[in-house]
Amino acid sequence: MFNNFVDFVRDIYGKDGIIPLHKPLFIGNEKQYLNECIDSTYVSSVGKFVDQFEEKIANYVGVKYAVATSSGTSALHIALIVSGVNPSDEVITQPLTFVATCNAINYCGATPVFVDVDMDTMGLSPKSLRDFLLKNTTVKNKQCINNITGKVVKACLPMHTFGHPCRIEEIKDICEKFHINLVEDAAESLGSFYKGKHTGKFGLIGTLSFNGNKIITAGGGGCLITDNKELAIRARHLTTTAKVPHKWEYSHDMIGYNYRMPNINAALLIAQLENLEVFLKSKRKIAMKYKGFFKDKPYKFFEEPPNSQSNYWLNSIILNNKEQQQQFLNDTNSNGVMTRPVWDLINKLDIYKKSYCSDLTNAEFLSERVINVPSSAIL
Ligand SMILES: Cc1ncc(COP(=O)(O)O)c(C=O)c1O
Repeated sequence: MFNNFVDFVRDIYGKDGIIPLHKPLFIGNEKQYLNECIDSTYVSSVGKFVDQFEEKIANYVGVKYAVATSSGTSALHIALIVSGVNPSDEVITQPLTFVATCNAINYCGATPVFVDVDMDTMGLSPKSLRDFLLKNTTVKNKQCINNITGKVVKACLPMHTFGHPCRIEEIKDICEKFHINLVEDAAESLGSFYKGKHTGKFGLIGTLSFNGNKIITAGGGGCLITDNKELAIRARHLTTTAKVPHKWEYSHDMIGYNYRMPNINAALLIAQLENLEVFLKSKRKIAMKYKGFFKDKPYKFFEEPPNSQSNYWLNSIILNNKEQQQQFLNDTNSNGVMTRPVWDLINKLDIYKKSYCSDLTNAEFLSERVINVPSSAIL
């Protein structure tokens, strides 16, 4: 049924073998920097590459501070801690996301509250957020209290799904009004801008991921980005086992984490960052090809939302119903073209099924229809 799609993808990515959903491209100085790193023997959490990377990524995104971490998940965990999330607080997020977003809330001992996503961004909906807050919360002494649970709603954690920016300015305004700290999960949106400003820098703090499937990869890695000096200092301290700086003594003044990005990962990542613009151009070109292909088809290609410049990290299409979604997955994967459904909603997982949910009509609609199609950058 979807054989012409398989042929179309093979025209882009090649006739033979399995076409992966997303594979990294190593076309620059990766081997040179890795060799330099190995020769220096500084392969672990101290070294020039990790410091250099922090400077370069902060410059690219346009923030004052970046703190490199071992993963996007660890960056999220620390971002929530330094933005004040305590055990028994609540954090508002979207159910249509990778599980790490929600797990990080749990690592803090806090509880997720799910609001809906927008149909045209797949990211947290400001309308759904506002409706939830107006209906269920009261602001007292500059704290937002959930009237039902009595808990403090401490933070809001939207995610820029598949690289498409959500309505982050509106979300920010609402958060300010309700005294809620805004933390952005920008794991998927390096190179994506909303009204000309990089995603991840609208809130108090943002996080990125450099996992193997991301637009640039460190193998594994992540990063916190912020303009707030105090938060950056605390984040750095917490990610380096809270060690008090000293030439030889081992003193730790709080319970910290071993979350620092190793130098060897940073060496790889600096080379990747040097080619980010190449990857972004290639991804946009591929997205436009998909857009052309789906123009006269009865399915929707997911385009960058209004006011946004998306990195088109993972291209998506919206089919008409769940049966068609399953058929598409079957036809493409059995012909060597890797496609994947969007995540099951997080609130449907056993581990999160007791969480509070607003009306999630859009998230449920998308979850049964969206498919990601091969999106690797090519030369
Ligand atoms: C939305 C989102 N948040 C968080 C993460 C976690 O990042 P990492 O895999 O680097 O821990 C990922 C991806 O992996 C992600 O897609």
